[in-house]
Amino acid sequence: MRALEDELFPSTPGKVKIERAGGAMNRQLHRCFASTSTMFLWALFLVAMTASYLSFQSFVDTSSKYFQASWGGLHWERQIRASAAPRRPPGSSPNAGISVLVTGAAGFVGAHCSLALRKRGDGVVGIDNFNAYYDPSLKKARKSLLASHGVYVVDGDINDARLLAKLFDVVPFTHVLHLAAQAGVRYAMENPSSYVHSNVAGLVTLLEACKSADPQPALVWASSSSVYGLNDAVPFSESHRTDRPASLYAATKKAGEEITHSYNHIYGLSVTGLRFFTVYGPWGRPDMAYFSFTRNILQGKPITVYRGKDHVDLARDFTYIDDIVRGCLGSLDTAGRSTGSGGKKRGPAPYRIFNLGNTSPVTVPTLVAILEKHLRVKARKHVVEMPGNGDVPFTHANISLARHHLGYKPTTNLDAGLKKFVKWYLSYYGYTRGSSKNL
Ligand SMILES: NC(=O)c1ccc[n+]([C@@H]2O[C@H](COP(=O)([O-])OP(=O)(O)OC[C@H]3O[C@@H](n4cnc5c(N)ncnc54)[C@H](O)[C@@H]3O)[C@@H](O)[C@H]2O)c1
Repeated sequence: MRALEDELFPSTPGKVKIERAGGAMNRQLHRCFASTSTMFLWALFLVAMTASYLSFQSFVDTSSKYFQASWGGLHWERQIRASAAPRRPPGSSPNAGISVLVTGAAGFVGAHCSLALRKRGDGVVGIDNFNAYYDPSLKKARKSLLASHGVYVVDGDINDARLLAKLFDVVPFTHVLHLAAQAGVRYAMENPSSYVHSNVAGLVTLLEACKSADPQPALVWASSSSVYGLNDAVPFSESHRTDRPASLYAATKKAGEEITHSYNHIYGLSVTGLRFFTVYGPWGRPDMAYFSFTRNILQGKPITVYRGKDHVDLARDFTYIDDIVRGCLGSLDTAGRSTGSGGKKRGPAPYRIFNLGNTSPVTVPTLVAILEKHLRVKARKHVVEMPGNGDVPFTHANISLARHHLGYKPTTNLDAGLKKFVKWYLSYYGYTRGSSKNL
């Protein structure tokens, strides 16, 4: 063994030793190379097997992330039909009997709208992919709340064309309220493709399903005030330019407005786009400032307050969720019919865009002061200049168009709205006044 090792790994440069070993050595080397190449082939085979296993796993992971196979079957269809069935007394309103597919139903605005529709007797089916952009347990809790009111939320992705086709096959939805999206401005710098996946590709897949459905539903969907981008003429009006987005999020929402316009034009789809202005309230989104400020203030952690150039405070036209819900339901109720069927246009259909804001911007330091008052805790503020991450310094809505066409009239100011939010937050996260639980 020792000799063989010496011969295979000579202590002096190889040629001398190999020559010394003569014919026997050649045979051994040949055997050795033969077994090395066999081993190499086996290794190659194993690497190939591992690679194909891993790529299969990643395919399964990706498809299960986007396309949950947890739908289908008779029981599932019965649940969908029951959830979609309107329960308004016949003749109680001109729109008695609408049945709405709500995308993003486990989200903040989606859950509130689904509940409001159900409470007035409309049929609602939700769809949501429960992604982990923020704590999915909050989305699951909203789903449970909806289930307790008879609203079924399908666990699925709007990019899943088969699932959408099946839903339209089972239910002739009169309306689609499209709220599913990758929201948030800053996250686009971390995960840009999630914006393309949900806000562009997902939108087109949904529009394809809508245009092919017979009857075609009317579509109401969430654009965003962020489309005003670098605009500085205030208040923002629907007639202002929207071709200078300041973030990828804004760009995908602007793209959505153009994409929906083309489906309206080619297929006769009735489209209403709603530009929401900073929506807040109970069951809200943990990534938004009012929510994360509340969490940090209660936990005694500092909050980062951004300030614009020249020490100008940032301001937002904060809009309370109940006002937004009224705007969404008003849009559904006034949406004209789609004119096409089976993918063919039969005449022009309405294409509308409305601002849904509050018309009274509030600065971020004022927001913090209101939170401090309702939480009865002082915030530890860390004031820094706003980084160039896509946020705009202020928003302010002109809502005359929505007032005229939808009867939209916001009624909750930031103080009253945050009071309700804080009450919900403390109860949802198990705080009791005066106790240090969770602090
Ligand atoms: N909240 C605001 O201040 C605000 C402002 C302007 C616009 N908007 C828009 O309003 C809509 C609702 O916003 P929100 O605050 O309720 O956000 P949210 O994140 O709470 O809700 C969106 C929901 O859509 C789901 N979703 C995302 N991609 C999906 C996909 N591909 N398939 C299925 N489900 C998917 C998410 O899981 C989430 O539950 C969004 O379109 C958002 O862009 C919101």
